[in-house]
Amino acid sequence: MKILVIGSGGREHALVWKLSQSPRVEKIYCAPGNAGIGNMAELVNIKVGDIELLLAFAIEKKIDLTVVGPEGPLVDGIVDRFEEEGLKIFGPNKSCAKLEGSKAFAKDFMIRHNIPTAKYKEYTKAEEAIKDIGIYGFPMVIKADGLAAGKGVVIAQNENEAKEALNIIMQNKKFGDAGSKVIIEEFIEGIEASMLCFVDGETIVPMVSAQDYKKAFDGDEGPNTGGMGTYSPSIIYTDKIKEKVYNEILNPFISGLKTDGLNFKGIIFIGLMIKDKELKVLEFNTRFGDPETQVVLSRLETDLVEIFESIIEGKLKQQEIKWSDKKALCVVLASQGYPEKYEKSKIITGLEDIKEAIIFHAGTKALDGKVVTNGGRVLGVVGMAKTIEAARDIAYREVHKIKFDGKQYRKDIGKIALG
Ligand code: AMP
Ligand code: GLY
Repeated sequence: MKILVIGSGGREHALVWKLSQSPRVEKIYCAPGNAGIGNMAELVNIKVGDIELLLAFAIEKKIDLTVVGPEGPLVDGIVDRFEEEGLKIFGPNKSCAKLEGSKAFAKDFMIRHNIPTAKYKEYTKAEEAIKDIGIYGFPMVIKADGLAAGKGVVIAQNENEAKEALNIIMQNKKFGDAGSKVIIEEFIEGIEASMLCFVDGETIVPMVSAQDYKKAFDGDEGPNTGGMGTYSPSIIYTDKIKEKVYNEILNPFISGLKTDGLNFKGIIFIGLMIKDKELKVLEFNTRFGDPETQVVLSRLETDLVEIFESIIEGKLKQQEIKWSDKKALCVVLASQGYPEKYEKSKIITGLEDIKEAIIFHAGTKALDGKVVTNGGRVLGVVGMAKTIEAARDIAYREVHKIKFDGKQYRKDIGKIALG
């Protein structure tokens, strides 16, 4: 079969890598992809937001299955468009993708279906939001309602910071229409865990757990990023927590979908905050996480094409899903300055010396026979081994071999999980 993967990051490289292992796959296209993906798929120069062009391409090439990586096209209804034309596509439709596309919609869903989450209020008028500064005390969490590439959340420490954030989001429209509505939330303390689940509308099956490192620098210092590294399984995700997640989140989530008439098929990514034994859901994403996917799919033993097809056909319940007992750890190499301003087009060397790790490209492109940087997050280096310690040793050993100007990475990924 022929597959089209949409996206260009480390997550999409991991998807292409896993899908290419299926004996049923003859050819993979990726739009627009990156240098690493280009070694295992044919790159197609169409942007992820060009739904009509992607559709025309899929029809022309007789694509058997399209897999959507990022949230933007899902929220814009790519799944609905492909299905209208009778094409098979993996991901939630527009109504379901709203669980990521609107934070207010997601919060309302959680509250109505008794899924534990932080208290919140929503606003469309800046004056009203400003009047309510501090209603849940400080720090105060302010979120743009719509998609903001992971940058729409501000944790304000005091009244001035809160005012400034509300002005930037609601009046200066830093995130455009995404900030026409904001929500204010109670601040929740704890340790975060990412729970990715397969969902076919009837059944929800969690994948192995992962912990993401969102802050730019060691010791969780610095600004929030898309994710600087991950390891799987997360040590805080114990069997006790797992049982609570089923009872308090997964079961109400599935019955909530049914009550609301949402036929959700795809991936739900649940951002969890865990403190002592208490759980709260911070957010939903309606797609694979990046860089969670790099460690989670590295541990998947079942054919991913089979799983995607079972979900599309509503047969997830019967689908066997096997995971490796090996642990996985991913270190992200980023460009100097990320997540703020950074330079591109730095030559990357050392990739050919990698022996033990799996390398997933993120912001890279091929230029005159060389691989150069082309984004904030450049590469993900994944070590796999019997223990987290050994997986970590592999990843960092390989990290040192890769060189580019301004290479920036965290040195403490997975440290918390060492004996
Ligand atoms: P979100 O996009 O909603 O996951 O928010 C991005 C990040 O902001 C999360 O990963 C948390 O680190 C932090 N965050 C979001 N909501 C809260 C909250 N209510 N309390 C504390 N931290 C939060
Ligand atoms: N790693 C967090 C995300 O993909 O949103």
